[in-house]
Amino acid sequence: MKEKLRINGGVRLEGEVTVSGGKNAAVAIIPAALLADSPSTIENIPDINDVHVIIEMLRWLGAQVEFRENTMWIDPRTVDKYNPPYELASRMRASYYFAPVLLGVFRRAEVPLPGGCDIGARPIDQTVKGMCALGAKVETLGGVLVAQADELIGGDIYLDMPSVGATVNSMLTAVSASGTTCIHNAAKEPHIVDLANFLSSMGAVVKGAGTDVIRIRGGRPLHGANYTVVPDQIETGTLMIAAAATAGDVVISGVIPTHMEALSAKLLEMGVNVQSEDDWIRVRSNGHFRAVNVKTQGYPGFPTDLQQPLSALLTVANGTSIVTETIFESRFRFLDELRKMGANVRVIESTAIINGVERLVGARVNATDLRAGAAMVIAALMAEGTTEIGGVGYILRGYERFDEKLRGIGASVEKIRVSEN
Ligand code: EPZ
Repeated sequence: MKEKLRINGGVRLEGEVTVSGGKNAAVAIIPAALLADSPSTIENIPDINDVHVIIEMLRWLGAQVEFRENTMWIDPRTVDKYNPPYELASRMRASYYFAPVLLGVFRRAEVPLPGGCDIGARPIDQTVKGMCALGAKVETLGGVLVAQADELIGGDIYLDMPSVGATVNSMLTAVSASGTTCIHNAAKEPHIVDLANFLSSMGAVVKGAGTDVIRIRGGRPLHGANYTVVPDQIETGTLMIAAAATAGDVVISGVIPTHMEALSAKLLEMGVNVQSEDDWIRVRSNGHFRAVNVKTQGYPGFPTDLQQPLSALLTVANGTSIVTETIFESRFRFLDELRKMGANVRVIESTAIINGVERLVGARVNATDLRAGAAMVIAALMAEGTTEIGGVGYILRGYERFDEKLRGIGASVEKIRVSEN
């Protein structure tokens, strides 16, 4: 049996929905807890498949872990392995965050190269560069990242691009390196700042997170901490786009509006009404949208993870939109699925040309990756008729109780089980 989402389109979304904790923050913060000499309690962790994979990895390494009602308790004191198995590590992108952590604890780590969404080559050369800059010897043998260091010493890391993963891995290495590390050309995403805040709450000295240069004074003992993960920027954006796509009126609560500025500005440009205050954003729309141009950038630019959901909305905008994906080299595959629903789109290298059509029509489509799945949900919510989306596992990897949340604001969506053949 496999699962699909069946969505009847054309229903206005109305009401209030609360976002979950940030997936990309949680998957960076949880491994960091192993660097402490005592237990940590981390709240607002989304109950999603990626988190369950991480829990399996923590337990495999020997840590004690409890996870209930979005709160995780981790006792790292019984960790006694530095080589998580391929079966676990290959199931998500963030598994390689354990490499710098285990290197810091054992001065050795053997971590299979990460899995994750098929949106491009996703090399890890910048992660290797960061770890080597602090004294590690790193090689990839048979798909396994093998790192060892007699001593980790702080120094300068110059990233070739503001890679989120390389920034996370450099930070996680630097806290175990004696002396000061400066990470130049660092990523500035909200989850980088959240990781810095968690490390600081453990007793690390981390300055400059959210800017191009992060300074860390490492080599100090780190203790367990009580921490609450930031709300998920990308889930917030996906729900904002869903509200607009259905000519709805939705309040999304538990958010940090400043994290959403690039998307809010783009939706306003399209003629969508966006209001925000404190910890909520209200999105209203009349269902008619101006075409716009979008270029993905690192934070605070337009997030690549919202390119796919917004591109789905642009398929019914008035006019032609140009979407340029500058971060990943193959993040347009989902457009083939949108064409099945009547979208008029062409891709030339890293640019999608989207000619708005009157409406989309429900069809049987597939999610090709996590945010492609979100894009298919957006398309299905506004399409005429019924859409069945295969590959639901991708969507549930990154969105907690997504179908339940959408039903809570009026969507006609259900998870169905179908036989494999
Ligand atoms: C993180 O991936 C996120 N994943 C992605 O979210 C997100 O799309 C991406 O950052 C950009 O914001 C997690 O946080 C778990 P990068 P990551 O390193 O770290 C190239 C989602 O939907 N690059 O910033 O893999 C790389 O090929 C996922 O939640 C190198 O060339 O992204 C890409 O083209 C999808 N060498 C670009 O940089 C490197 O060593 C950005 O990659 C590292 C990256």
